[in-house]
Amino acid sequence: MDERKKRIFSGIQPSGELTLGSYMGAIRNWVALQEEYDGLYCIVDEHAITVRQDPALLRRRSVAQLAQYIACGLDPEKNIMFIQSHVPQHAELAWILGCYTQFGELSRMTQFKAKSAQHADNITAGLFTYPVLMAADILLYQADLVPVGEDQRQHVELTRDIAQRFNGLYSNTFTLPEAFIPKMGARIMSLDDPGAKMSKSAPEGCVNLMDPPEVILKKFKRAVTDCETAVKFDKANKPGVSNLLTIYCAATGKTIEAAEAEFAGQGYGVFKSAVGEAVVELLRPIREEAERIMGDKAYLESVYQAGAERARYLANKTLSKVQRKIGFVAR
Ligand code: TRP
Repeated sequence: MDERKKRIFSGIQPSGELTLGSYMGAIRNWVALQEEYDGLYCIVDEHAITVRQDPALLRRRSVAQLAQYIACGLDPEKNIMFIQSHVPQHAELAWILGCYTQFGELSRMTQFKAKSAQHADNITAGLFTYPVLMAADILLYQADLVPVGEDQRQHVELTRDIAQRFNGLYSNTFTLPEAFIPKMGARIMSLDDPGAKMSKSAPEGCVNLMDPPEVILKKFKRAVTDCETAVKFDKANKPGVSNLLTIYCAATGKTIEAAEAEFAGQGYGVFKSAVGEAVVELLRPIREEAERIMGDKAYLESVYQAGAERARYLANKTLSKVQRKIGFVAR
């Protein structure tokens, strides 16, 4: 990798489908950034098993997620794309870092509190130490930037604290990463509840990248609007219509003003169909490409194997340094 470029590390949970919201709000930006930064995109199957997974589904989703990212335009030649469990250094460094993390620090993680309430019958040690594995993911590659949603900011802060502590004890070893929340991404809200973010946990109001056209059109036809008739951008008073305008403009590249003019006097039915059609056309090539890639097992395998090899090389540099500094005997 080019040493002068900044490094981005992103961990992707192989749970469920990618959504229109994550495409417009995040993935699209990473594609735009791939010339400027070195990217590492890691399918975090080891994080996924902190809650119970169906084995066949986990395997399928890990590979499908990779195919979908490539279909969105992330180039496996320009980025390192790999599966976490293929790089054993993640688990090894996580063990070590766990010995430099306080029980109290992990107890304060709000995601742990939320998830342990949600899975009250299965609160595992893995769920508790999840942020340490995440710190290992990031620190192994000396990542500068970590694109995450607001819910992961606390984990990135903890990663910085662990890195700083280790650097203080053993001299400079880890780059201190920063949470990176790109400004340019559109914030897409749920179609049936424009007060909430579009999310796969509320499937009714959520469009998936792999949804076929008729499903997408149906979801937009049902989208919540208001009891007026004007297609106007007004977030406070017309959140549903404003969200649809945002989606329409993100899909077509038009400005809000142009879109408002286009639908002046047309009523919501026509407007909602047009937004649905625009999204269908935006997603069609992505879905088709993802399906094509999913059918090409040999290609996919070559991508994740080559990715893991490059990742292991980089990860090993950091891990060996850490092992030497803390007093492990050289292999
Ligand atoms: N915890 C992240 C999430 O749930 C996924 C993740 C794992 C991650 N390791 C990471 C994100 C490293 C960024 C960097 O979304």
